[in-house]
Parts: sequence; C-alpha cells; structure tokens
Amino acid sequence: MSTTAELPVFDEEFVADLHAKYREIRAETPVQRMVTPQGLPLWAITRYEDARNALTDPRLAKDFRRTGEIIDRIDPEGSVRRPFNSALSEQMLNLDPPDHTRLRKLVVKAFTARRVENLRPRVEQIAADLLDRMSEHDEVDLLDAFAFPLPIQVICELLGVEEGRRDDFRRWTNALLDASEPEVTRRAGLAMADYLVELIAAKRARPADDLLTALIETTEDSDRLSEAELVSMVFLLLVAGHETTVNLIGNGVLALLRNPEQWAALKADPDLVAGAVEETLRFDGPVMHGTLRHTTEPVTVGEVIIPEGEIVWVGLASANHDPDRYADPERFDINRDAQGHLAFGHGIHFCLGAPLARVEGQIALRGLVERFPDLAPAGELDDVRWRFSTLIHGLKTLPVRLR
Ligand code: HEM
Repeated sequence: MSTTAELPVFDEEFVADLHAKYREIRAETPVQRMVTPQGLPLWAITRYEDARNALTDPRLAKDFRRTGEIIDRIDPEGSVRRPFNSALSEQMLNLDPPDHTRLRKLVVKAFTARRVENLRPRVEQIAADLLDRMSEHDEVDLLDAFAFPLPIQVICELLGVEEGRRDDFRRWTNALLDASEPEVTRRAGLAMADYLVELIAAKRARPADDLLTALIETTEDSDRLSEAELVSMVFLLLVAGHETTVNLIGNGVLALLRNPEQWAALKADPDLVAGAVEETLRFDGPVMHGTLRHTTEPVTVGEVIIPEGEIVWVGLASANHDPDRYADPERFDINRDAQGHLAFGHGIHFCLGAPLARVEGQIALRGLVERFPDLAPAGELDDVRWRFSTLIHGLKTLPVRLR
C-alpha cells in the first residue's frame, strides 16, 4: 500500500482545478486514497453510483465520537486538526440512528415546509432591498453586495436573531469554515455558542413566531431537545444554512456569466430559474468535495475493499460530473434534467434545508436577471479565485458590472 506522502492531497492547487482533477481520478482510480490539507488520510469515492450507494449504506456511519477515535488511531500525535469541536459536534449531521432519527424527527416538526413557504415573501423583500441598494452602483462584488447578505438575513430572520448581531454571524460562520486558521475557527465557534445560549434564554422568556421558539417548544412523545442539543442544532442550521446558499448564488451567477447563451435563455424566460438552480447544484454545488463517513466493517466499493475503521469521503462534486450519469457533464445547461444530483446529499442525512435553499436560489437568480438583464463580469472570469476549504466550494469575490 502506498504511503501518505505519495497520495494526492486536497490542496489549493486541487481546489483551483477541482473538476479536472476529479475527472482524472474518476477515470483511473474511482476509489482513491487521498490526504486532507490537515494530513488526514482517507478514501475518496468519486463515481456517481458508488457515491449514491455509499450515502444509504449503514456500514458507512457518521458518529463523531467514533470518527474522533479513528483519527486518534491514525494520528496519535494529534497533529491533525480535529474536524469536530465537542459540544457543537453533537448534532444530527454527525450522528447515526437512533440518535440521528430522534433529533431529525424533532427538528422536522419545527422546520416545516409551511414555515419555508411562509418565508417566501420575506425572502423576496430582502432580495429586492439588496438589489435596490446595488442599483446605486455601476459595479459591485456580487458576493459582498448580494450573495452573502441574502441568506444570512434569511436564516437570522427564520431563527429570530436580532439585526445588531448579524455582522457577528457573518464573521463567525466565515471563520468556522476556513481551513487555514484553526485557532480563529475555535474561537469563533465558542463565541457563537455563547451567543446562542443567550439567544435561547431570551426566546424562552419571550416566545415569538420563529423557528427557534418552535425548536424550543417542539415535542415528540413527550421527548424534547435538551439545552445543549438546542445550541448545537441552531449552530448547525446557521452554518449549514448560510455558507452553502451564498455559494449557490455565487456559483450560479459565475456559470451563467461564463455561458452567456444560458444567461440569455434565462433572461428570455425567467421561469427557467428552477432549472438554473438545479443545474448550478449539479455543476458547481456549494459543498465541495463531499461528506465524511467512517466504515464500521469492511465495505467493498467497486473493486476496492475499504477496511473497517477507515475515514471515507463521499465525493459529491465528483459524482455530479460523472459522465456515466450525466451526458457531457462539463457543459452547464439550465435546460438539462439535473434531477438526482447529490449536491444535497442522499439518504437519511439528505439536506434538511433543501427547500429553503431552493427558494432562496430561485428568488436570487430571478431577481438578478430581471433587475440587471445586462449583468456582465467586471474582470476576467478566468481569473476568479476559489476559497480554500475542504467543505465549501465558493468564490472569494465576483466583481460584476450591472449595466
Ligand atoms: C445536510 C448541502 C442549505 C441545513 C446537508 C447535506 C448536504 C447539504 C450535502 C448532507 C451532508 C451529509 O450527508 O453528510 C446543502 C447545500 C445547501 C444547503 C448545497 C445550499 C445550496 C441548507 C440550508 C439549511 C441546511 C439553507 C438550513 C437552514 C442542513 C441540515 C443538514 C444538512 C440541518 C443535516 C441533516 C441531517 O443530518 O439529517 N446539506 N445544504 N442546509 N443541511 Fe444542507
């Protein structure tokens, strides 16, 4: 077996050229051992069928405590930064049944389709206000002016976070997903957790018509969320609900600008926006490489046997570009049937916020194409830079001309 020194690394070079790198791996070694930037060796699953099956295979589990033990075994010196930070790790995304089932049931009762649908007019209003403000300029950074503030305002409003704290949220979530400065990440996590404890106490004292109050009050057979579970659940919703949607908007606009005939098609018929959002999710989904699991027993994937107790990366971005699933996968086409993409995952952990993300993405792209039909890049699109993160696939900036 090769040593980790010889394995491909998810480094900045890899991130900058993601799809080309995955194309090679998929064709040559579809189950490829790789190393994270922190030095953690893992098994990357890169083909669509394998990835989809992996996401419903109970032998590929998530429990963060077991993941931690495996990392300790691989890296007894502790030089690999733990991907998890104890108190906040205890949420459903990092747990298996029955713990996962219990938490998901409770949150689903509070985070209903109706709550998302009721939010639609507010999302439209927030988007319209941001577009108004943008129209005072000839050029803006689309991320700064639109893609960042929209989802953070929506998720803060959904949960009932006060206006005055929203800039803090943006700073914290940014730091939490940045792979380059572990200490900054740790401090941001603690600051956010402290604030959430305060916020929950305030909602208990004064219940409101928001998701946080609903989460506090939700019950299932006399079961409810404990204080610690509430904090980590809200933390999960904030982080999962913010940075992902930012990049859905940013990556969608980038793809449309790089393919002017697709922008023209959307301009001619804004009702194509649902297809544009699905194709963006498939083509350049906001969750980059994929998602972490560990093997609870040896698992055969394709021609490879992954031993028990190994870390596995299910490659969502790669799966969505698998030519065996999507013809001509590197063509961005808002009229294609992108259904079945894995950008929201699959199986029991399928993204809980997918309906909200779709509403936000559709309102954002429609608002842009209707208000700024002549939107154009304000620089070379070949020069765009991707953020360096093992989780998030998004741009650093996206300068655009509005007219
Ligand atoms: C889970 C992607 C937006 C909340 C997931 C997973 C993916 C994902 C891939 C599954 C991860 C896994 O299997 O390990 C995305 C993308 C989004 C988005 C691409 C935007 C375009 C949101 C929003 C929210 C949210 C807006 C909430 C407000 C969650 C939660 C889970 C989750 C709570 C965990 C579900 C579970 O473990 O059962 N998301 N997400 N996401 N997402 Fe999203």
